[in-house]
Amino acid sequence: MRMELETLMLVFSGDEGLAVPAEGALFLGAVPHGALRAWSALTGWQPLKPLADAWDAAGFAREDDLPAGRWPLVMVLPGKSRDETLAWFALARERLAPGGRMVVAMPNKAGAGRFEKELASATGNISSIQKHKCRAFHAVEDGKWNEEIFESWRLLAERRLIPETQYLTQAGIFSSDHVDPGSALLANHLPSHLHGSVADLGAGWGYLTDKILQNCRKVSRVDLFEADRRALESAERNLARWQPEGVAHFHWHDVTQGLPSQYDAIVMNPPFHTGQATDVDLGRAFLKTAISSLKRGGKLFLVANRQLPYEAVLETSGLAWRKAAEDKIYKLLFAEKR
Ligand SMILES: C[S@@+](CC[C@H](N)C(=O)[O-])C[C@H]1O[C@@H](n2cnc3c(N)ncnc32)[C@H](O)[C@@H]1O
Repeated sequence: MRMELETLMLVFSGDEGLAVPAEGALFLGAVPHGALRAWSALTGWQPLKPLADAWDAAGFAREDDLPAGRWPLVMVLPGKSRDETLAWFALARERLAPGGRMVVAMPNKAGAGRFEKELASATGNISSIQKHKCRAFHAVEDGKWNEEIFESWRLLAERRLIPETQYLTQAGIFSSDHVDPGSALLANHLPSHLHGSVADLGAGWGYLTDKILQNCRKVSRVDLFEADRRALESAERNLARWQPEGVAHFHWHDVTQGLPSQYDAIVMNPPFHTGQATDVDLGRAFLKTAISSLKRGGKLFLVANRQLPYEAVLETSGLAWRKAAEDKIYKLLFAEKR
């Protein structure tokens, strides 16, 4: 249960709660909630596939791309980074009808108090409630908002180049301002004789696929599977130079749900967050998907932080595996399906 969503819904509940506009509302970072079923004309936008799937399964309307239009109410459940949060304030502002209300909810540990002050610096007026270790804050567009501040936040939503590279990324996606050192280690150890069809699981903005296409000339196809739609769109741009050959295929896809094909090789730097059990489970789910999606004789190339316990999954998988390299932070685990 997302407690910031519970706090958001409190803004509209009880005798003192705000009225829900009959003309409709937009929800950026949409996550389903039972109380939303009573709302009319609610449109959601959610760049993360598992959450978009949950929103769809609950029967709500959603658009893949940021919806165009203006709404009297725009709700925001921001992502994790500062730039992304401020960018989403600007995206919400652009979609707010005159006199409309922006409502944001965040966990305290994600800096809710600080971001409430940031929004107040642009809107002048702000109201907030605190509950469940989260804050929901909202402001009414009264014609006096500081549009220069919103414009500076809007720029944070634009694609940016990673310094000293040609790679484009966006605020909020994984490794948005540098090449991940774990992925760089893996790229340096990938054999140049890789061939056939390859899957890149959790492909991000396309770094590993780019390295494969540069160095492994016998690869005929790479399928990129990525949950974050924004990252996948950056990958499409970053790999455009390979596309005359039509070799890269982009899938907005939840890897934990399995893959539609079998592969000669799979590369991955699975998602994780130190110390959070559920995220180690996410990495394990990636590994299980990879194991079941390799052809016989297919090869797996994985990089992970050294403390993550993926060896146990490989040990019970029946694959022949070895630790191919390690440094102070990362290890490379290579495996073959016999
Ligand atoms: C550690 S990053 C690696 C990104 C990229 N391969 C690189 O080397 O820069 C893991 C990636 O997995 C993606 N991801 C997280 N959960 C996912 C899921 N359930 N299905 C597909 N991708 C997911 C994240 O958005 C992130 O881009």
